[in-house]
Amino acid sequence: MSDALGFPPTLEWCGTHLRLLDQTKLPGEETYLEIRSVADLCDAIRRLVVRGAPALGCAGAYGVILCYREACRCRGLPSDTFAYLTGMLADARPTAVNLRWAVERVRGVLEPFNAHPAETRESALEAEARAIHEEDKAMCAAIGRHGAELLPKDRATLMTHCNAGALATGGSGTALAVMYAAQAAGVKLHVYADETRPLLQGARLTAWELSRAGIDVTVICDNMAASVMRERKPDAVVVGADRIAANGDAANKIGTYGLAILAKHHGVPFYIAAPSSTFDLSLSSGAEIPIEQRARDEIAKPYGRASVPEGAQVYNPAFDVTPAELIAGLITERGVLMPPYEPSIRAVLGAGSKSNPK
Ligand code: MRU
Repeated sequence: MSDALGFPPTLEWCGTHLRLLDQTKLPGEETYLEIRSVADLCDAIRRLVVRGAPALGCAGAYGVILCYREACRCRGLPSDTFAYLTGMLADARPTAVNLRWAVERVRGVLEPFNAHPAETRESALEAEARAIHEEDKAMCAAIGRHGAELLPKDRATLMTHCNAGALATGGSGTALAVMYAAQAAGVKLHVYADETRPLLQGARLTAWELSRAGIDVTVICDNMAASVMRERKPDAVVVGADRIAANGDAANKIGTYGLAILAKHHGVPFYIAAPSSTFDLSLSSGAEIPIEQRARDEIAKPYGRASVPEGAQVYNPAFDVTPAELIAGLITERGVLMPPYEPSIRAVLGAGSKSNPK
């Protein structure tokens, strides 16, 4: 789907290795990293070369092939090494559940192939990883269609936070897929994109995507969101998610929770767009979602220049949790789930639900 939008692919399995668009260099440079080892992939994931929950899932899925090759070459027990490497990959970032979900799903296909030659097993891993990538593209397109239905039909003003677009998925995005689908349906959009401190995914990535797609985008500092809501009266806030618990509480980029409170205060509907692979029904509430803590220097030394004195501490959680009661709807590939979320999530995504064959 990113191909249809004319964006360079976010990630691509090249048969021998994984090619990643280096998102740390955007918007200035469009360069690719060729990833040939599990260590390099984990490093790329931790540095946010590839980021966004569904894209992490796709990268992790292909990464299992690298784990398998390295395990086959090791001196010790290949199965132990495979378990160790896939575990390390699944843990490279802890909040986006798509990463662990995809690694476990691809790893799971090896069981029935144990008696087969190595090439057959590697082909099975590759087929499963490619399936995850293709499914992600289809889920993005469906999320876009369902979400666009929620917007006004002629023109709409929206707000978003971080980047939940083509760069964050294997397809056209989640929150941004809604915008691309609305634009394709003829809606004239104006999007306010929070810059998203400290790593500026909104300013660097969302603004890059939307402006390339011909959507009017205005970048604002995160602390301007309240004023913009009061002055410009957006029709909706649409953001992505990294993990959604069984009760609808949703973890997303730090600052999302604040935006949801502001939306409630100003009477603006606040939507979360996410595929079923982002739901973690093993967690009863958002309080159980692990929140990634990141390095001090992302805040204390942006662009290599000190902006915080050495004597001061820094707190840098990468995500926060928005309580379900602040969310007007969860836009999934299977439709828009409405509150109360526990039963609607269980009915549509839970084991045994008609639309979930798992
Ligand atoms: O730290 P990041 O850039 O990986 O955080 C990404 C987000 O918070 C996105 O909003 C989320 O993963 C949804 S992506 C469709």
